[in-house]
Amino acid sequence: MSNRIRIRKAVFPVAGLGTRFLPATKANPKEMLPVVDKPLIQYAAEEAVAAGVDELVFVTSSSKRAIEDHFDKNFELEAELERKGKTELLNIVRSVVPRGISCVYVRQAEALGLGHAVLCARPVVGNEPFAVILADDLIDGGDQPCMAQMAAAFEYNRCSVLGVEEVPHEETEKYGIVEADPVDEGLGRVCGIVEKPKPAAAPSCLAVVGRYILTPRIFDLLENTPRGAGGEIQLTDAIAALLLEEQVLAYQFKGVRYDCGSKLGYLKATIEYALQHEELSEEFRSYLNRRFCSTAGKVEKLDTKKRAG
Ligand code: G1P
Repeated sequence: MSNRIRIRKAVFPVAGLGTRFLPATKANPKEMLPVVDKPLIQYAAEEAVAAGVDELVFVTSSSKRAIEDHFDKNFELEAELERKGKTELLNIVRSVVPRGISCVYVRQAEALGLGHAVLCARPVVGNEPFAVILADDLIDGGDQPCMAQMAAAFEYNRCSVLGVEEVPHEETEKYGIVEADPVDEGLGRVCGIVEKPKPAAAPSCLAVVGRYILTPRIFDLLENTPRGAGGEIQLTDAIAALLLEEQVLAYQFKGVRYDCGSKLGYLKATIEYALQHEELSEEFRSYLNRRFCSTAGKVEKLDTKKRAG
């Protein structure tokens, strides 16, 4: 591992198909689904930048060009907004990629899994620790976004850090699950990790969410990781090999995670982010109150034909 302690690069595996959102994702990448007015991938990029990252590495596939376009300059749109004097909108468009931040795109030619996607980023990341963010896990970390919290844990401990949270026992099959020895409040030393175990076989209910800081040693291990769960090259399996050689920490982040890879999680995120949105929160809150609450504050039985004004 190099002496550098700042995480400069973040990898965004975005080549997945997004079948859970069909037909919305037939021609549009799932990472471009908006939560209120921003696509999921932009929240992820902003979280990385807030953690000090200045190079965004997207691992894409042929159907994901909209992501490249989103982070590219749109001359026509900017010229039009400028001509019309729409300064606020112009600033919104221009700040999609903040100054000093560069974007790199790497193709994952075959859908061989998350581990393979991360390995595709090796030539760009090189020999330094890096972040991985899965955009469909949207995390509201409040004042300190999740990756910034993890970067602080990394800087202090100088080892790989996995973002984790407790999930209901019956849901272990959806996640990488860690076994960890507590070292501090919200921090544990990972002694085992397994991809999507059945509840009966799960070592704990601590699930890895889509946030990782990894040392570059993971690339060598990924090179030698055979296909695992679902016939894919699993990042989890390479992490299981990594923790035999290096310390790996599980960090229980502060904040709320929305599983935007599922329709229900996506809807919850939309509601919560709309309630926090500068322009919308007041009107949206009063709409929800009119629509769902009686004057006594109780939730009424929903009448789908009745429309709130
Ligand atoms: C991936 C990882 C899994 C992790 C999850 C977090 O699974 O393989 O270990 O817990 O992301 O969202 P996926 O959701 O891509 O099936």
